[in-house]
Amino acid sequence: MKKIDVVRQILNERMMSEPRHESGAAFAPTNIALCKYWGKRNVELNLPVTSSLSIALPDKGARTVLMPVNTKDDRVILNNRILSPDSGFVMRLGEFLDLFREDKSCALQVDITMNIPVAAGLASSACGFASLISAMNNLFEWGLSPRELSILARLGSGSASRSLWNGFVIWHAGARADGMDSYAEPLDVAWKKLKIGILAIDRGEKPVSSRQAMNQTVATSMLYGCWPDVVARDMGLLRQALRDKDFSLLGRTAESNALAMHATMSSSWPPVCYHLPDTIASMHVVWDMRRSGDDIYFTQDAGPNLKLLFHEEITDKVRERFPNVEIISLAD
Ligand code: PMV
Repeated sequence: MKKIDVVRQILNERMMSEPRHESGAAFAPTNIALCKYWGKRNVELNLPVTSSLSIALPDKGARTVLMPVNTKDDRVILNNRILSPDSGFVMRLGEFLDLFREDKSCALQVDITMNIPVAAGLASSACGFASLISAMNNLFEWGLSPRELSILARLGSGSASRSLWNGFVIWHAGARADGMDSYAEPLDVAWKKLKIGILAIDRGEKPVSSRQAMNQTVATSMLYGCWPDVVARDMGLLRQALRDKDFSLLGRTAESNALAMHATMSSSWPPVCYHLPDTIASMHVVWDMRRSGDDIYFTQDAGPNLKLLFHEEITDKVRERFPNVEIISLAD
């Protein structure tokens, strides 16, 4: 099964035809996984081996404005700069848009504004594809349900399936070959005291994409066989932590899950290591704070940056130990 078959199954006759408005816009928050998605059971459809669970950063993400244009090709603008048609980003976006149009006559201007570093392990593709599919849904008035939007966003980037909501979100791995049961949905949990600290260690583009690193890990890592068991345990612990509002359990499960994911990739060949010396140094500061009694944890995605998890009571101490931290509060 190809991506286009999934799109046809969901949209039927509604493929990109006449836009219903002059423009369509949408914002999508970026999300940070507390239990990671790492490894695909179907590479073409971005179907994951395991389920995953994330938290959204409400004001951090991507806003996409779409407008039909009378040119032959799409025009892609990222943070007010027109991108070259042969840049990797524009090609990946064009391939995604092509899934929704029968012929190329429907060219679009895609104007994306992101307030997070692009391709630095801060889930820019997650919020990028989620905002793009929501903007298309608005421009063409497809009337898609959140579940359908999640499935379509997943075709752009797996973690995008989780970027359609604020708060805690679970992405069900699903078992079907067509992936119609592999979608995300929000969890009804509020956690006002939880703060997320973004520790930008390097804002540059990562040397190995998460897509490549993931596939390499599944194909060559001896440790990958344990990963589904790690996830099964951690999903249970996280659900328990959310139910009981047990912050220590939430934090240590997220930290241990991230370290286990990085262990699988460093045991792949060629090895993938996203840590920089400052990443490790910052982990030691977190561990040192814990030894002194502060309940603080970290998680790390496919990049050198850390995301700190802590409660608002220790905000001043966190700022003192990490002067460059950017602190995000969760939405009400
Ligand atoms: O959706 P992708 O292909 O960008 O992969 C995301 C992978 C991680 O960020 C490391 C984990 C996750 O669950 O978001």
